[in-house]
Amino acid sequence: MATVVIIGTQWGDEGKGKIVDLLTEKADYVVRFQGGNNAGHTLVVNGEKYVFHLIPSGILHPGKLCMIGNGVVLDPAVLIKEMEKLAAAGIPVTPDKLVLSLYTHVIMPYHRAIDVAREKKKGKTAIGTTGRGIGPCYEDKAGRGGIRVHDLLDRSTFRQKLEAGIEEKNFILERYFGEKPLDIAAIEAEYLEYGERLRPFTGNVSETLQLAVAQGQNILFEGAQGTHLDIDHGTYPYVTSSNTVAGNACCGSGIGPTRIDKVVGIVKAYTTRVGGGPFPSELLDETGDRIRKVGGEFGATTGRPRRCGWLDMVVVKSSVRLNGLSGMVITKLDVLTGIPKLKIAVSYTCRGHKIDAVPPELDAVEACRPAFEEFDGWEEDLTGIRSWDELPPAAKVYLRAIEEHAGVPINIVSVGAGRNETLIIRNPFDK
Ligand code: GDP
Ligand code: IMO
Ligand code: MG
Repeated sequence: MATVVIIGTQWGDEGKGKIVDLLTEKADYVVRFQGGNNAGHTLVVNGEKYVFHLIPSGILHPGKLCMIGNGVVLDPAVLIKEMEKLAAAGIPVTPDKLVLSLYTHVIMPYHRAIDVAREKKKGKTAIGTTGRGIGPCYEDKAGRGGIRVHDLLDRSTFRQKLEAGIEEKNFILERYFGEKPLDIAAIEAEYLEYGERLRPFTGNVSETLQLAVAQGQNILFEGAQGTHLDIDHGTYPYVTSSNTVAGNACCGSGIGPTRIDKVVGIVKAYTTRVGGGPFPSELLDETGDRIRKVGGEFGATTGRPRRCGWLDMVVVKSSVRLNGLSGMVITKLDVLTGIPKLKIAVSYTCRGHKIDAVPPELDAVEACRPAFEEFDGWEEDLTGIRSWDELPPAAKVYLRAIEEHAGVPINIVSVGAGRNETLIIRNPFDK
């Protein structure tokens, strides 16, 4: 039995979805533990593309149980739409395939409205959120005014909580943001209907996981976003509103830290970021444009072009520390083919000082200038490669440099979007 946590080591979109789908072959359970439909996890299986925002990326494998833990913020309409899309593709999502924690907080229409209104008001200093209501929902959770999945199943409690929520949020929307107020009756009817639709899927994720551990099952935890979008450890305030680090797999699903065996960090072979915020190794030139084009670096959730840059080992090394990585997966190595010289940021100079960690102050991160190591590129198409030995020598040197800087072994290298476009050096589920 093994429990493996998958997390992003950069600013999201590292290819977590593809790797979770790949590793689900050996898993019995796949669990989302934080974030919401700000995530966009893309899988390509037998030439078909699937994008999941809420449903765990293990759902395409028959006979596995996917779970949405308490740490997620749930937009029920999005979950239902994803289920319907899968059903239309001949993959019905039934309660024996998906369990939704009763403790999960629900994203309400006023969360989305406030998210969008706040960004608009911020203007130039906007975070560049996905506008999905993620931050305001987590605010209500921390402020103890949130609505959880079990509330949708109880008319009178729901009405009570909704009244309290709407009163406060309409005040803010109208008086502070100058937006239209929301109508309680319409929301009440809509959300009670979602509750009935989702009732058969609700359950206790923590208890199910306890049983799974006792039975020696393999469990995979699917992180969303990336370590540098973490609310505590990321480039605050240009972050998301949840803890994205591996430790939150425990809090966000209800499993104890002694039950986690491995933590695998997904490292894109270069760096991308969507939305605002500092990005020391960003490429604002033709090489950046080329990576965006070849890598298809456009957001799976909002369609925004992703900012692209060189691989930044200062960023990755912080992730090794913050997540206690036991292994790494390098993704999208194929995208770098044909670039004559590759660079990896290995330290920063910040106001005359050499540093090798991301500083806490926003203006200090913005002042960081990376120092690079340079590597020869390669011309070979990598997408057909399935073993380490077949890799071009220059690609091996590049990968070994990543391992050396991180001090963590590479478990898998991904050379294409397809499930099989992968070299498995060591499967984290193997002893
Ligand atoms: P996630 O949010 O971490 O799951 O990543 P996304 O799905 O948002 O973005 C990764 C994108 O790269 C998706 O379109 C994947 O299909 C694609 N992808 C994943 N691994 C590889 C790879 O090794 N090579 C290439 N070319 N594309 C990949
Ligand atoms: P996956 O799981 C990349 C970014 C947004 C914005 C910031 C805050 O696909 O890797 P939010 O809506 O969460 O309040 O936005 O976080 N962001 C992501 N960037 N990948 C993601 O998820 C992201 N989820 C949020 O662009 O900068
Ligand atoms: Mg994504």
